[in-house]
Amino acid sequence: MMLIQDIIAKKKLGERLSREEIDFFVDGIVSGEIPDYQTAALLMAIWIKGMDIRETVDLTMSMAESGDMLDLSEIPGMKLDKHSTGGVADTTTLILAPLVASLGFPVAKLSGRGLAHTGGTLDKLESIPGMRVDLTKRQFIEQVKDIGIAISGQTADIAPADRILYALRDVTSTTDNIALIASSIMSKKLASGADAIVLDVKTGRGAFLPDVKSSTELARLMVDIGRASGRRMAAVVTDMDQPLGTAIGNALEVIEAAETLKDPRPSRLLDIVLHLAVLMVRCAGDRRDRKLIEDDLMRALRSGAALDKLTRMVERQGGDPSYVEDPRKFELAKIVRQVTAPAGGWVSGIDALELGKASVIIGAGRKKKGDPVDFGVGISIRKHIGDTVDAGEPFATIYARSEADAASAAESCVRAYSFSEGKAKGPPLVYETIE
Ligand code: URA
Ligand code: CA
Repeated sequence: MMLIQDIIAKKKLGERLSREEIDFFVDGIVSGEIPDYQTAALLMAIWIKGMDIRETVDLTMSMAESGDMLDLSEIPGMKLDKHSTGGVADTTTLILAPLVASLGFPVAKLSGRGLAHTGGTLDKLESIPGMRVDLTKRQFIEQVKDIGIAISGQTADIAPADRILYALRDVTSTTDNIALIASSIMSKKLASGADAIVLDVKTGRGAFLPDVKSSTELARLMVDIGRASGRRMAAVVTDMDQPLGTAIGNALEVIEAAETLKDPRPSRLLDIVLHLAVLMVRCAGDRRDRKLIEDDLMRALRSGAALDKLTRMVERQGGDPSYVEDPRKFELAKIVRQVTAPAGGWVSGIDALELGKASVIIGAGRKKKGDPVDFGVGISIRKHIGDTVDAGEPFATIYARSEADAASAAESCVRAYSFSEGKAKGPPLVYETIE
């Protein structure tokens, strides 16, 4: 007979927990037998004393198995998934998923909603009129079988243990622990059923973890967890010290994705898309040289095949595909304000966290659980770090519902941007690739 207080005592002293002890804990929180105060005590003991790789894999598997495990085996081929730890102006998935699917690799992706200052793929997709992101398990599987791509919210009861732990971590100062973050993210990914998973771990001020060292440690740990449970894995650590693309806000980000699919001009966003797409394709078993795969990807973009995949996915999920074909149809908020540079020079810094928060404040994200999202508001930036500006030149455009919101977002833009008289250089885009 196990007692949770003995398990807490063991971890308090820095000892390793067995799989049986971890299962007892996870089963106990899901059944409700272990109360929040004991769970919180164990979480804090884990935060202070840490967990080794074996314990972290055990916790991840136990959490993954605490609910439904999606079985995608009836879909032929290697099913691919991608996960980002969350960014600002990061519409990567909406370009990447259809692009990879257009080469014939099935993409089965369960996405999330916006979290804190970061946007969520489900919210962005819902800015397309009619679009549904609540597919059933059956609809999800049939859609991937038929058209090779589906992006939906949780189709089943995925990792209920994580929901409980996440909510407690949020209010007990135990969120920022690498083993706990890795097991949280990977339990959901493993339960979602993909054969190969590519992770984009963001680093910098706009990210969950601010420094490259801890982000890289997180990326390696998640790759190890995935491989330990038989999945093909790759990960990148990428920059979130400035917004990735130009659009912060739901409809704005769908517009940016559709425009990139139509006309793939060089940008940091396109670079990340191509980098991740190569990793996904290689994970799926195509071991050709990176350059040859990139050529195929660029062909799929230029031929319209990738855009066509997105259009078909939107149509299949009840959305109006004409919005993707002609993104000018999106109705943006009517109060439009330009933010202009005080003097000529170079952009030397952009605080992605500040801009992400500003977009939430004017309605692009939620201030509290369950708030509706305003699809038409947001911030469009015209300048990244290293770009030149003239005095009085607009560097950002705000779409808001009120003059007060527009003014507050404009102030945030002014605070977020730094300018220099001398030439400034942007941060690297990709810090680390684990393949
Ligand atoms: N995202 C998650 O799903 N879990 C974490 O712990 C952190 C980010
Ligand atoms: Ca169990």
